[in-house]
Amino acid sequence: MPVKSEVNLENLPKHVAIIMDGNGRWAKSKGKLRVFGHKSGVKAVRETVEAAAELGIKYLTLYAFSTENWNRPKYEINALMKLLVNSISKETKTLIKNNIRLSAIGDVKSLPADCRKELEETIKTTANNTRMQLNLALSYSSRWEIVDAVKKIATEITEGKIEADNIDEEMFGSYLDSSNSPNPELLIRTSGEYRISNFLLWQIAYAELYFTNTLWPDFGKEDLYAALIDYQKRERRFGKTSEQLIEA
Ligand code: IPE
Ligand code: IPE
Ligand code: MG
Repeated sequence: MPVKSEVNLENLPKHVAIIMDGNGRWAKSKGKLRVFGHKSGVKAVRETVEAAAELGIKYLTLYAFSTENWNRPKYEINALMKLLVNSISKETKTLIKNNIRLSAIGDVKSLPADCRKELEETIKTTANNTRMQLNLALSYSSRWEIVDAVKKIATEITEGKIEADNIDEEMFGSYLDSSNSPNPELLIRTSGEYRISNFLLWQIAYAELYFTNTLWPDFGKEDLYAALIDYQKRERRFGKTSEQLIEA
């Protein structure tokens, strides 16, 4: 497994996004219930946040609960929400100590009241922290976010605040829930699934994708280093030719 010193600090992505997947399978492989996997996933979150902040990554977005996850069995949803409240309340001190700002994207209004309260309080207490921004995607799906942006834009057009002709990519992006972060340069998905599952569709237009078979509860600092080292070997061409990049 790689070590921190193998990561080139001069070529870090500003923003890393992670689809934290595989908690259920991890638990099953140990003969335990799915919820045990979710509980064990919290440690991986802690390690990843710490590793990202130590390296100097400025934005980290973690996909914690999707719009589609509301279709899971009720007891699993309840357990996840409970875990969320407890983890946020437990981790607030560490976020403050490490100068990390918490933010959330998604339909947070749909979360249970105690969850929302805890989340909003921590967002408020960490609002002025500057080392890294940690975005939790909660009750989030990219299509929800895009439709929500379209609604806001349509309302402003009706109210005469903006004109349809003035809509461009930058302006559209500014209406997205996640507009408080730049687009991620690197997207990681754990658990060996090769899909995006409705995550940041607009924002990952040019992100580098990294898939690992590691199940989320086993993900640690070294796994993040491995993803970053792989990212640093890639040539990001943005439609240009390799020769053009060398000339520049
Ligand atoms: C990811 O693990 C956590 C959430 C989606 C909330 P899963 O619960 O999807 O675990 P698998 O994919 O079934 O193993
Ligand atoms: C994606 O994982 C959502 C999160 C990690 C929160 P899922 O396990 O819900 O995705 P699918 O259903 O396998 O695509
Ligand atoms: Mg899954």
